[in-house]
Amino acid sequence: MSIFDQPLDRRGTDSIKWGKYAGRDVLPLWVADMDFAAPPPVIDALQKRIAHGVFGYGHPWPSLVESVLAHLEGEYDWAIEPEWIVWLPGLVSGLNVACRAVDGEVLTATPIYPPFLSAPRFSGKKLNRAELACTDGRWQWDKIALQNASTTATDLFLLCHPHNPVGRCWNEEELRDLAAFAEQNDLIVCSDEIHCGLVLDADKRHIPFASLSPDAAKRSITLMAPSKTYNIPGLGCAFAVIPDPALRHRFLRAMDGIVPHVNVLGLAACEAAYRDCGEWHGELIAYLRVNRDRVAAATQGDFLRGAVNGQKGAKMSHVEATYLAWIDVRELGLANPAAHFEAHGLGLSDGADFGAPGWLRFNFGCNRATLDEALERFAAGCQAV
Ligand SMILES: Cc1ncc(COP(=O)(O)O)c(C=O)c1O
Repeated sequence: MSIFDQPLDRRGTDSIKWGKYAGRDVLPLWVADMDFAAPPPVIDALQKRIAHGVFGYGHPWPSLVESVLAHLEGEYDWAIEPEWIVWLPGLVSGLNVACRAVDGEVLTATPIYPPFLSAPRFSGKKLNRAELACTDGRWQWDKIALQNASTTATDLFLLCHPHNPVGRCWNEEELRDLAAFAEQNDLIVCSDEIHCGLVLDADKRHIPFASLSPDAAKRSITLMAPSKTYNIPGLGCAFAVIPDPALRHRFLRAMDGIVPHVNVLGLAACEAAYRDCGEWHGELIAYLRVNRDRVAAATQGDFLRGAVNGQKGAKMSHVEATYLAWIDVRELGLANPAAHFEAHGLGLSDGADFGAPGWLRFNFGCNRATLDEALERFAAGCQAV
């Protein structure tokens, strides 16, 4: 039995994910956290920090910074300087700060994690959207759509890499094309790489956008955190890596008076997560891979498609990274797919929030017993149309 099989009851806790359906028989597979305990080294580090008993304002310390630097170099072959790091309480803050720090209009590609759509609006910026293309079941960049969406007033490109919700781990060729596009259009690229530790395919690896070339580095704001990979998003610890001093200065100025210090427990957890959790991480990826394959089998198998008039059903493309499956249920012809599946005991994220009505996002970061029950309910929901 894997450590990830252990049953874990989050009902009646502070969990946003589980609290949404309190008192109802709805399995929550929506917001992106996993129903797993944090890695033991992270829990040990937190206990040690709590035993100290003093929780004044904190700042990052040398061994923490060393842990981040070693992790980025070891995992992604990306050597950064300590002064390039700007600590943040979360990536959504980072996206919003980026929109305030860079003048001009904003560009992004849909479907996309909803704060990419709201951050420009919150900063009074116009958002230009390009659609990603799903060709032969594989999500790809539509270069023409991207170029058409980029106006002369566009200065900032919000990139999601790996991509939430489509689950692509953009490869080197795609990233080089994006870097060339950014250079030609003189765009700052804010690359949200929060899911970079969740590449599920053994033959793929995460390449930080900023690591591509000196030009890519110069125009980049990379957002990262240990929060998704080590399942500690509630600890509020993230960071931006901004190599260019002038851009970093603008980012810091936009944070002034709005963005608080990072929680000291989050910083302690970050150090341990990046330094001491390699084995746990390996087991997690192996577990999520099997979960991913089970969701894929369920959406491709007869028990979903065949049952509904032989035609209708649910489709998903291969998830290379993240623990999120992006499922096309348009063929089911439902007016409100999320509400329909809630009525069948399954709480999924509504694709409309990502700019794609008729789609659902299914979080498979849970133990297998929960997953199998969820897949049964999903099948029942499809068959009940
Ligand atoms: C792409 C992406 N960025 C940011 C976040 C949230 O980041 P934070 O909780 O650090 O604000 C998420 C969470 O699902 C995400 O998927």
